[in-house]
Amino acid sequence: MTDHTTTNAGIPVESDEHSLTVGADGPILLQDHYLIEKMAQFNRERVPERVVHAKGSGAYGFFEVTNDVSQFTKAGLFQPGKRTEMLARFSTVAGEQGSPDTWRDPRGFALKFYTEQGNYDMVGNNTPVFFVRDTIKFQDFIRSQKRRIGSALRDNDMQWDFWTLSPESAHQVTWLMGDRGVPSSYRHMNGYSSHTYMWINAGGEKFWVKYHFKTDQGIGFLTQEEADTMAGEDADAHRRDLWQAIERGAYPSWTLYVQVMPFDEAPDYRFNPFDLTKVWPHGDYPEIEVGRMTLDRNPEDFFIHIEQAAFEPSSLVPGVGPSPDKMLLGRLFSYPDTHRYRIGPNYAQLPPNRVRAARVNSYAKDGPMRYETPDVARPYAPNSYGGPAADPTAFPPVGWSVDEGEMVRNAYTLHRDDDDWGQAGTLVRQVMDDAARDRLVGNISGHLLNGVSEPVLERALQYWRNVDKTLGDRVAARVHGT
Ligand code: NDP
Ligand code: HEM
Repeated sequence: MTDHTTTNAGIPVESDEHSLTVGADGPILLQDHYLIEKMAQFNRERVPERVVHAKGSGAYGFFEVTNDVSQFTKAGLFQPGKRTEMLARFSTVAGEQGSPDTWRDPRGFALKFYTEQGNYDMVGNNTPVFFVRDTIKFQDFIRSQKRRIGSALRDNDMQWDFWTLSPESAHQVTWLMGDRGVPSSYRHMNGYSSHTYMWINAGGEKFWVKYHFKTDQGIGFLTQEEADTMAGEDADAHRRDLWQAIERGAYPSWTLYVQVMPFDEAPDYRFNPFDLTKVWPHGDYPEIEVGRMTLDRNPEDFFIHIEQAAFEPSSLVPGVGPSPDKMLLGRLFSYPDTHRYRIGPNYAQLPPNRVRAARVNSYAKDGPMRYETPDVARPYAPNSYGGPAADPTAFPPVGWSVDEGEMVRNAYTLHRDDDDWGQAGTLVRQVMDDAARDRLVGNISGHLLNGVSEPVLERALQYWRNVDKTLGDRVAARVHGT
């Protein structure tokens, strides 16, 4: 229905075109409230972009359980027959809001499940590993990928400087420089929890798990040349692809598998199972099907539902817990903190973040933009007027035991096969075929030839020889033009 324009207060306005002036050529008047409202509102249209993963796209959908994994977890959303409403947001990491979707970068794979036990967030990436293994290095890593002080230019020299001084990055950088470093669309990539999480079953038994969301559309990738062309032709190619697929009813789906490690196997496993730079080889821990997520609804308002979506790895429901992964433990703090800054302290009340299938019985109150009243009788606990009381049975036992010891700043204890190069080498030698290795050599050398100087360049060549001698020699030959 065509209607008349109003102010934000619903009052009819007189003109969409002319401000109120003293005579046709005279000064604008302060009592033109509508003009002032328009200017003021416009000046406040943006919230800060995410400090990482700023460019993203998302959609709503549902998750259905297809296999019985109740022997591993009591979490309601993973019980047989369950269907849970959800939201997904996919993103690039280093680029800003307007950056091309096809820059080489990991992709975010953030999921929010509106479960009956509260909102559960699985904030993963399209890669099973990461560049660093301790939260304290994350900020440095990201700064090396973003823009330089001064020129405000991105700089490959910074990236390789950080990577070669941080050999634990080798597995993730190999993965990034390979085909999966530029997916052909968000629909054609997998999502991984990357971290190890804990699952707890109804009997209190604990397991370590890793999540793998495998695309049902099949893996697709772009060559560097295709990605560069697409970056120029359609910077929003992946956003467009996801939106249009859902509009035409081609709903993308992913099948969730988990790898499950018995709790007591962790200390003696050949790799440190909590080190985020490592995978658990499938041969050791095969994938067990859990269910399928399908995205079938585009957001009616991108800003409200996707820009203001707030995912946080700390939102874990009963039956799921954290692990000793030092990256995960840092992330449990970081996300709610950034949401309070980026969106505001009452971000949890906004439509994409609101609890939908459970009930919020929190004693939180007040603050900017609060509009829901807490249902707690009196604003403190305990109270004698029927306010909620904590349920000590909801979460036990989510812990693991820690030997009493000195407070230290140490690397993880090494397990038998732990090193920084081994799994990266396996990826190159055993997973990639000749054509994929050729593209890998081309991608690495192209990146190195784009602004990387000595001594970083020589270190980078050694870095690749450490991953795989033949690969390193081939990259060196390409870089030196021999
Ligand atoms: P497998 O042969 O059982 O698994 C190899 C896996 O590699 C495939 O299942 C696929 O994962 C993934 N893959 C295929 N092509 C590429 C590519 N171009 N770039 C990145 N990943 C690719 O061997 P393992 O489990 O013993 O692992 C061997 C190596 O494979 C690891 O060192 C790791 O680099 C890589 N990998 C392992 C994963 C794991 O969880 N075990 C997951 C992903 C990669 P998918 O089925 O998930 O698509
Ligand atoms: C986004 C911090 C590691 C996946 C973010 C944001 C911050 C952050 C501050 C912005 C959130 C927002 O504004 O909404 C960190 C820190 C890390 C870390 C401190 C390391 C300690 C990781 C890892 C993964 C990951 C290992 C994947 C396994 C994501 C995703 C987003 C994101 C998917 C985008 C979420 C969305 O779509 O809104 N991260 N991150 N991060 N991070 Fe991390």
